[in-house]
Amino acid sequence: MQQVMNDVEIRGAYKKFGTNVVLGGVDLDVKQGELLTLLGPSGCGKTTTLNLIAGFIDADQGELYIKGKRMNGVPPYKRDLGMVFQGYSLFPHMTVYENLEFGLKLHKVDKTESGSRIKNALEIVKMTGLEQRYPRELSGGQRQRVAIARALVVQPKLLLLDEPLSNLDAKLRQELRMEIKRLQKEVGVTTIFVTHDQEEALSMSDRIVIMDRGKVEQVGTPTEIYANPRSEFVFNFIGKSNSMHGSIVHIDANNITVQRENGEQMLVEAGNVMGADRLCSIGDQVKLYIRPEKVAIGPVSDADYDLHTVRITQMNYLGSSWEIFTSFQGDSLQVQCSDIDPAWTIGSEVKIGWKPSDVMLIKQ
Ligand SMILES: Nc1ncnc2c1ncn2[C@@H]1O[C@H](COP(=O)(O)OP(=O)(O)OP(=O)(O)O)[C@@H](O)[C@H]1O
Ligand SMILES: [Mg+2]
Repeated sequence: MQQVMNDVEIRGAYKKFGTNVVLGGVDLDVKQGELLTLLGPSGCGKTTTLNLIAGFIDADQGELYIKGKRMNGVPPYKRDLGMVFQGYSLFPHMTVYENLEFGLKLHKVDKTESGSRIKNALEIVKMTGLEQRYPRELSGGQRQRVAIARALVVQPKLLLLDEPLSNLDAKLRQELRMEIKRLQKEVGVTTIFVTHDQEEALSMSDRIVIMDRGKVEQVGTPTEIYANPRSEFVFNFIGKSNSMHGSIVHIDANNITVQRENGEQMLVEAGNVMGADRLCSIGDQVKLYIRPEKVAIGPVSDADYDLHTVRITQMNYLGSSWEIFTSFQGDSLQVQCSDIDPAWTIGSEVKIGWKPSDVMLIKQ
């Protein structure tokens, strides 16, 4: 089998600021040509990981390889990287053209070559014609695109993007998401993208790295991360979820039966156990998770469904779907559906159901 080459390899990166352990042994592989996203809550170490790759900080322990070469101690300007920083800072006293030319001058690229690369980069980000503007004369989205062009123009080995879309409105964000994805594939440059926006990560990435408190929690494609979260943290961080407590009362080859405090029983498919300890026995205290879009509401006739009754407590219209909050014998249970029965009101009792294969279980 042909081995896929990794453009970046981090092995056992450990970093402390004062007494604060910011990276607690990070291992990471970035494949050639992929768009890999670092996703995690504020302060989990995403920017620190990028800074380590870029060479702005050194790890206290661990190894870094870029394109197979050990990079520990190599200064940033010798790493051939393009970077868009969190809050993307363009040079305010330089025009768009001069901003792009800056890195090329540092790399001693000659004028003709420089000119054609800048023209090309501005075409890619659809900014042709605005070369002579200053950053203050551009919209946020345009500035963003210049920052990306500035990173691309030096033809980097690696493109590092730190929350490049965080200051933009929802529509522009979505447009630029698609644009960055298209650009990245067009240019073929290996890219590490940092965000704390799960939708951004799911829609753009080839693979996602979920980080929490300086550690990698899970690495996988967007569908793997969403459908097969390995821990409670990942399940909660990606997508919406409902949770309920109970204890195991029965186990057979197909399903685990969990009894909630109010006596009601729920079925979980036997393989759907998350976390490090997956061996279940009768009497174990557990938490059950189910996503709102996996709950069917209204008449459910499917024989494989586990059926229950809930009371509606709130109904929110979201345009393309409804978000319905219900009381499930004391637990709050959120349901997402495309249509509602016009007869439903707050307080209505309605049937719900789900497949045991859509319920996840974790031992407490
Ligand atoms: N130079 C520094 N000195 C001291 N602490 C630092 C330094 N840089 C980062 N930290 C701390 O390290 C932790 C991780 O920071 P980092 O910037 O990597 O987080 P992040 O995941 O990028 O978060 P955000 O989503 O908010 O940008 C935080 O607790 C931060 O306060
Ligand atoms: Mg950051």
